[in-house]
Amino acid sequence: MQELNPDDFADTALLPADTTITPTLLKIIRSETFDDFINELTPSDQQWLNRQSFAGKTGQIAWLENGQCIIGSSGEDSLSTLGHLPYQLPEGVYRLTDDASFIALLGWGLGGYRFDRYKLADRMPAKLILPDSANASELVHTIKATNLSRDLINTPAQDMAPSHLQAEVEALAETFAAEVNTTVGDELLDLECGAIHAVGRAAADGPRLMDLTWGDLDHPKITIVGKGVTFDSGGLNMKPSGGMRWMKKDMGGAAIAMGLAYLVMSQGLPIRLRMLIPAAENAVAGNAFRPGDVLDTHKGLTVEIDNTDAEGRLLLCDALSMASSEKPELIVDYATLTGAARGAVGAEIGALFSNDDALAQELMQFGRAEDDAVWPMPLHDDYDYMIKSNIADLVNSAASPYAGAVTAALFLKRFIDDVPWVHFDIMAFNIRKRPGRPEGGEAMALRSVYRYLAQRFGAIDE
Ligand code: BES
Ligand code: MN
Ligand code: ZN
Repeated sequence: MQELNPDDFADTALLPADTTITPTLLKIIRSETFDDFINELTPSDQQWLNRQSFAGKTGQIAWLENGQCIIGSSGEDSLSTLGHLPYQLPEGVYRLTDDASFIALLGWGLGGYRFDRYKLADRMPAKLILPDSANASELVHTIKATNLSRDLINTPAQDMAPSHLQAEVEALAETFAAEVNTTVGDELLDLECGAIHAVGRAAADGPRLMDLTWGDLDHPKITIVGKGVTFDSGGLNMKPSGGMRWMKKDMGGAAIAMGLAYLVMSQGLPIRLRMLIPAAENAVAGNAFRPGDVLDTHKGLTVEIDNTDAEGRLLLCDALSMASSEKPELIVDYATLTGAARGAVGAEIGALFSNDDALAQELMQFGRAEDDAVWPMPLHDDYDYMIKSNIADLVNSAASPYAGAVTAALFLKRFIDDVPWVHFDIMAFNIRKRPGRPEGGEAMALRSVYRYLAQRFGAIDE
């Protein structure tokens, strides 16, 4: 694991524990101890708190006469405990009077994010000096990993085309001395990736597959895959305006895979990591793939196109087949795959599919602890009939209006051999602002998987 240096704290809204600037003190008051706290105060402070309707609940902030700031906290710690503070407190430097949990401190850091590529932020976030007890490296790098994903998602398709995504993967590889190989355009056909090629070939910036590897060859192999559709117009089955509006985020799966890779590498987890990012813009031109076309895939299965808007599973199927043929210990994929998953669990829960039920349950538990909700969904084989084709091995989209997220996952499953596999169908975007979760791109299901990997494979000895 690399040592942190002071520069690493830039853009995290956190400061190292040994910072010498005089801070404003912050005291967390838990609702259970609120009465005791009140009773110790001077009558005039008591009156002040009354006037500010402070009751020690999460989200409440109040000031005492001595200049100390108090923060309410009810229930278990989460990103909401401190996540509102970076932009609700005045700019400046703060320190907590007591220790705080990892998830609470993380909330502060994640709440400090602003996407400032196209306009300057109107203010700086308030900054928190970390308590001595905090795991600064894990905090800082979790924030950086998340903000990497967020920046990639928030960047419009004009500046985040497949070639830009390639440059981002290469920059990530360079930071951690990882290796990366990219196959572009017609060369995808030599790799037998006919599906990635078909989805992306109509765009001015051609389709490609990035293949990053890192770590000791003797360590357990983990492969992560992310859907990198840099813009999803729907192709010839074009989306209506409302459906197309936010499709710059359709590389959210790729962005989260990259964030996870960043975190794994920054913490030096003893695994052999492989990350596959298929990238394409689903565009329209004379050479676009069409409904009715039949594609050759990496696995050798043929796929009849029912709908060019079901393009994500086409990118993924080639990448998953490549991943699976190497028989890693685990494959994890992330994709903004279906509207149906959003209908099922909403925009704030990651829909999780796995061929290993125990793994799915474990990931859900990690999701709870990390305030990163993921929920198992049925990989119900009996629905396989919905993705049958009369002229090919599979269709890319079911004629049925039901269980769209399930049939998409069943489609992917056909490209996985006997390897433990988890598929996340995620929104990758906060449609409303919450503490620690600004509106816009979000690295959903990143921490659940990281924590699982860190727990299962353990940190490297120092
Ligand atoms: N990228 C979309 C899915 C999506 C839409 C995710 C909105 C999150 C928010 C995907 O490529 C898509 O268009 N899926 C279609 C599949 C259908 C044609 C079978 C969908 O969900 O409507
Ligand atoms: Mn689509
Ligand atoms: Zn898509």
